[in-house]
Amino acid sequence: MFIIVANWKSQLTFHQALALCEGNLEGYGDLGDAKGIETVICPSFEALHAVALTLQDTAIQVGAQDCSAFKQGAYTGQVTAASLAEVGCTYCIIGHYESRTHLHETDQLVAEKMQQLVTVGIEPILCIGETEQEREAGYTFQALTRQLTAVAQTLASHDQVTICIAYEPIWAIGTGKVAQKSQLTEVFAWLSTTCATLFAEHTVRLLYGGSVTAETAGGIKKIPGVDGLLVGTASLDFKKFEKIVSSCS
Ligand code: PGA
Repeated sequence: MFIIVANWKSQLTFHQALALCEGNLEGYGDLGDAKGIETVICPSFEALHAVALTLQDTAIQVGAQDCSAFKQGAYTGQVTAASLAEVGCTYCIIGHYESRTHLHETDQLVAEKMQQLVTVGIEPILCIGETEQEREAGYTFQALTRQLTAVAQTLASHDQVTICIAYEPIWAIGTGKVAQKSQLTEVFAWLSTTCATLFAEHTVRLLYGGSVTAETAGGIKKIPGVDGLLVGTASLDFKKFEKIVSSCS
């Protein structure tokens, strides 16, 4: 099923996140029922439980935006995958470029987070993408390969799992610059082939993220290999998010 993930980042406080859900409860209920679309909302940690409870009678899924690379223990400030599962998370974003950049996350750390998530049955949404400099220098596929390989090694010994991989060109995140159709066609064809080899035992769903709007969502959905969208800015406005979902259903 086509999947649309809302990444609320740290844009809303606890009360603002709840107000967005409560103020549009019926609307989110309708989005959850949209034919052929699975909708996931990823609020920040403190709002996860309350948002999951508020949306519990809808078909909307709730996801986290990060998780600890450790199972449990003396790791101050970390939120474990097991805790996320207990509060109702069924998805979790990992390796977002903002975490890789501001928190200096390495490919190895992201792979360890993936391990924790699949162990508790949360579906990871692994973000990968190239910088503008990498693209201009012709290193797009090297950058993506590096990010995929660490994770593939982690999953090699694991029983069959389903994961989402979100291709988010870094230059397209929050900039209003959506990748061109020809660029996306090329990357998704490469990703489909590469993931079929790297994750041969697993099921991979490929998402696009980066300045998705109601105007561009339908066109991106038609690109071969695209199984979903990861939406940041436009997901904070219910009307805009609703239009994105309806343009894909
Ligand atoms: P954006 O964010 O839609 O605001 O570009 C996407 C993301 O960072 O996941």
